[in-house]
Amino acid sequence: NGKYLVSLIEGDGIGPEISQSIKDIYAAADVPIEWEPVDVNPILKDGKTAIPDAAIESIKRNLVALKGPLATPIGKGHVSLNLTLRRTFNLFANVRPCKSIAGYKTPYDGVDTVLIRENTEGEYSGIEHHVVDGVVQSIKLITRAASERVLRYAFQYAESIGKKKVRVVHKATIMKQSDGLFLDLGLELSKQFPNIQFDSELLDNTCLNIVTDPTPYNDKVLVMPNLYGDILSDMCAGLIGGLGLTPSGNIGDECSIFEAVHGSAPDIQGKALANPTALLFSSIMMLQHMGLNEHAAKIQKAAFDTLAQGKYLTGDLGGKAKTHEYAGAIIDNLK
Ligand code: IPM
Ligand code: MN
Repeated sequence: NGKYLVSLIEGDGIGPEISQSIKDIYAAADVPIEWEPVDVNPILKDGKTAIPDAAIESIKRNLVALKGPLATPIGKGHVSLNLTLRRTFNLFANVRPCKSIAGYKTPYDGVDTVLIRENTEGEYSGIEHHVVDGVVQSIKLITRAASERVLRYAFQYAESIGKKKVRVVHKATIMKQSDGLFLDLGLELSKQFPNIQFDSELLDNTCLNIVTDPTPYNDKVLVMPNLYGDILSDMCAGLIGGLGLTPSGNIGDECSIFEAVHGSAPDIQGKALANPTALLFSSIMMLQHMGLNEHAAKIQKAAFDTLAQGKYLTGDLGGKAKTHEYAGAIIDNLK
């Protein structure tokens, strides 16, 4: 029927509500996409958390997926499904643009940077040991292969969006081996990208500097090991209005999964209070990835207009609108 099939993981908690908004907006915008619902409820395979085969096949067939939040158990319990998805499809780069939304006021203006997070190893390797009573280890694994892959992607991404600089964010003063390797590889690779300036910054300095004045980061793509990217991207989300507004894309060689970075917010589940913007903006990254740029631009403009009008904002943004009222306002602005 001339439509692209896209796997849709609605997710837990507020996931189904915000997914509904995306479906409504896409239908109104005549996006040539048909959603294939995918159930990723974990199964145990060889004693490990695994994604059901049907879900894996759907994503492999469709090559792109949109994903709502999946609850992650704290401490003991199954491995995070979010991580299992990233690892199952080898989604090596997690791209998190951080861009101020004109019309939505925060203490910071004109933020426009991009974080790229290594997405398969580092502190997220899941290699942990109980050594003896009261002593535990969590291994941070850094490999040349995974580091080179994400660093190369960062340079290519910078070129593709017209950013002039790539900066490695690290802590090689302390993590001399692991971050040292990551940093060295960045420097080495930078020689293959003569049009991009390369430098590096210590993570703690980045935190201080970016909340003091984010504008020097606007010409840069920041690339870093996994956990640093997790933390720094939440901090940067705070600069532009929070996780409810921040998109992300998990990029692999074959498949890519676009997801909202926020959690499943069980406290407001089923109350139509959730903000679907992060999932919507993630879906816009997905449209761009698929080459559906006109649809992406049209939906993005309608969302920006709605946020700037400020009449139908959800509670997290200081408004009173229900999820579907906000989505309805975006749909009205498509016209
Ligand atoms: C994120 C999330 C995940 C992470 C959780 C849900 C496992 O916080 O995408 O940033 O830590 O990577
Ligand atoms: Mn996170």
